[in-house]
Amino acid sequence: MTTVTVNASTSYDIIIGRDLLKNTGELCAEVLKPCKLCIVTDDTVASLYLETVEASLCASGFDTMRFIFSHGEESKNTHTLVELLEFLAASGLTRSDCLIALGGGVVGDLCGFAAAVYMRGIKFVQIPTTLLAAVDSSVGGKTAVDLRAGKNLMGAFHQPTRVICDYLTLDTLTPEIFADGCAEVIKYGVINDKDFFEIFKKGIKENIEEVIARCVANKRDIVEKDEFDSGKRQLLNLGHTIGHAIELLSDFTITHGSAVSIGMVIVTRAAVNTGLCPKEDLELLLDTLNRASLPVECNFSAEELASAALLDKKRSGGSITLVVPYALGDSRLVKTPVDKLCEFISKGLEGA
Ligand SMILES: NC(=O)c1ccc[n+]([C@@H]2O[C@H](COP(=O)([O-])OP(=O)(O)OC[C@H]3O[C@@H](n4cnc5c(N)ncnc54)[C@H](O)[C@@H]3O)[C@@H](O)[C@H]2O)c1
Ligand SMILES: [Zn+2]
Repeated sequence: MTTVTVNASTSYDIIIGRDLLKNTGELCAEVLKPCKLCIVTDDTVASLYLETVEASLCASGFDTMRFIFSHGEESKNTHTLVELLEFLAASGLTRSDCLIALGGGVVGDLCGFAAAVYMRGIKFVQIPTTLLAAVDSSVGGKTAVDLRAGKNLMGAFHQPTRVICDYLTLDTLTPEIFADGCAEVIKYGVINDKDFFEIFKKGIKENIEEVIARCVANKRDIVEKDEFDSGKRQLLNLGHTIGHAIELLSDFTITHGSAVSIGMVIVTRAAVNTGLCPKEDLELLLDTLNRASLPVECNFSAEELASAALLDKKRSGGSITLVVPYALGDSRLVKTPVDKLCEFISKGLEGA
């Protein structure tokens, strides 16, 4: 078992271990007084893990209830949110009660946002069950639901009280969903941890506890310096500006992780072709992504990618902030004028 402590506006532990779900009750009792707990989860995760979590919480004396919604990003909306809030109110949850987010990033984001706004904020515990949620969305306190106009447009910063990461749950993920999470894992290496690539060579799955711990420690270090996302935290967007463009252009048939993988390759190759980054770093990145079964190229043109990227909410005035690897482990924020974006992306497609 590994514990990583985050000292943001509130301080909390991320507990990482194998087969932890059956100890959920004890791990919650360390940080919560006896109270009502509403477990929020989706139908897929409920069928796999809800009973274990519920039994453990009950055995530790918590009064539990469950809110289950249909899996998928389509559910991360105001409709599900209001249903959940109404359910909490009808069940008599008070400010001293707590929510449990059991699932992937969709559950974590929705449940976290409900916890942020219910009675002006109650506690919540994250129990991530996808690799993406374990290494990214369960840590850092960003919570949100989608609006019709775009993803994550209604949200709040609200840190969890504890994160319980049982990586045995990752065994039931499809290979595609696991690979998607690997893109976010590899992202941390490119941002600021070149030595991480040594572990990638030995295998992400084979070293999963160390991998998750190292990712969350990396994210923790960034979040502690910039909790509210006004500077350094933007480094976590590496590969995402172009990645979001790829998701959009593909009508979301290319998954988030796959799109981020291709996005990372494009910015890294652009950095190589403009003389900023050594070529062997691109080769190591390509090799690592290939081994994680992630795609490294797409058929969209630089013009298509640039115009789709400019629809992204991260644009500010006449420029866009790109995360550019000057080497693996040394990524920097580079403010790029909007009219230079297409040229930069073309460099990233050159010689692919
Ligand atoms: N808050 C943040 O900082 C942050 C960061 C990154 C992403 N996100 C958000 O995270 C979401 C994506 O998260 P995700 O990829 O985990 O998606 P997800 O929650 O939709 O999970 C993917 C699928 O896997 C299923 N699943 C979950 N755990 C499982 C398990 N152990 N075994 C079998 N199936 C399982 C789910 O039911 C779902 O169908 C997006 O909405 C994104 O905006 C948030
Ligand atoms: Zn991402």
